[in-house]
Amino acid sequence: MVSASKRLFRVLRAMDKKAFSLITELAQGKKLMRDEYRYLIENNTPEAANFAAELAVEKRKEIYGNSVFIRGLIEISNICKNNCLYCGIRAGNSCADRYRLTRNEIMECCREGYSIGMRTFVLQGGEDPFFNDDTVCGITLGIKEEFPDCAVTLSLGEKSRESYKRLKDAGADRYLLRHETADCGHYSLLHPDDMSFENRMRCLYDLKETGFQVGCGFMVGSPHQTSEMLAKDLEFIADFSPDMCGIGPFIPHKDTPFGEYPPGTPELTCFLLSLIRLIKPNILLPATTALGTVSSDGRARGILAGANVVMPNLSPTSVRKKYMLYNGKVSDGAESAGSLAILKEQMNAIGYEVVTVRGDIIK
Ligand code: 5AD
Repeated sequence: MVSASKRLFRVLRAMDKKAFSLITELAQGKKLMRDEYRYLIENNTPEAANFAAELAVEKRKEIYGNSVFIRGLIEISNICKNNCLYCGIRAGNSCADRYRLTRNEIMECCREGYSIGMRTFVLQGGEDPFFNDDTVCGITLGIKEEFPDCAVTLSLGEKSRESYKRLKDAGADRYLLRHETADCGHYSLLHPDDMSFENRMRCLYDLKETGFQVGCGFMVGSPHQTSEMLAKDLEFIADFSPDMCGIGPFIPHKDTPFGEYPPGTPELTCFLLSLIRLIKPNILLPATTALGTVSSDGRARGILAGANVVMPNLSPTSVRKKYMLYNGKVSDGAESAGSLAILKEQMNAIGYEVVTVRGDIIK
């Protein structure tokens, strides 16, 4: 551990004063203005990023120690009625090889995950009409019955308030729905005309009021994104105060309208992870698969920037390659005790410990 004064000296020498004082203010629990967030994003130097990461890690350690929570990610269907311009499983992509898991297959994934220490299962999928309320409630009840000590997280897109209530009543604990961008104009550049920013926000507030632990999130470096928009994302996180936030770099998929756009960077993604940790110290923050895809040590970098969750893939190996949201997606899941052991080693090597608990937010 470096002493506080040494750290201060080192940082002051290398970093611009304004970025230093803004990051310090964030760490003291102060709320920043949008143009202050923007200043930080535009002045994302390695020194500023290191300073933010150091403070973010300190904050996280105060609350979660050196624990890293694992979530078993089960990609239940790549059939989607939506046509988001960035996404490889968009309805309009006729090259996608579609699949849908059966209830039995999903239960088998949970059994596998449970046996290797997972205590949260995330059911994620495209907006597949087959998975209606009755079906998802049935599966949720089934998981809760067999694994009463586990949390169920759903990530199945936009639904009515009534549907969210039914899913909650069936026992689902958490819901992930990325807001994708907090800028309404940007939202419409990323989505087809039949999707709206207003409805996405309505869903997020309904989820919160229904009693879910809620996760939002966005892509870093998505097409048409500006630093002002990212500043709005941070402002939204400060105001909405989600329990979880998934962020990862945008990565192009060749069979989408954004196939030729450049990917987001791991550097900016990690800096934003640190800022989000400082904005909301107890937030559950995954080092995402997308971050692990743009950088071979992305997950470790994410944890060292302030993340505290990893979501290994529990989907059957036969469908892994089909849930291709972007090209090059890594599918180094933890379907076997062996590959989870590798993740554990990676985390141990940087001073962290993968733990076998539900890992709810500490309030
Ligand atoms: N690059 C990175 N992330 C993507 N997602 C969808 N497509 C891409 C892409 N091309 C993210 C979206 C979505 C989540 C499930 O995956 O943010 O909410």
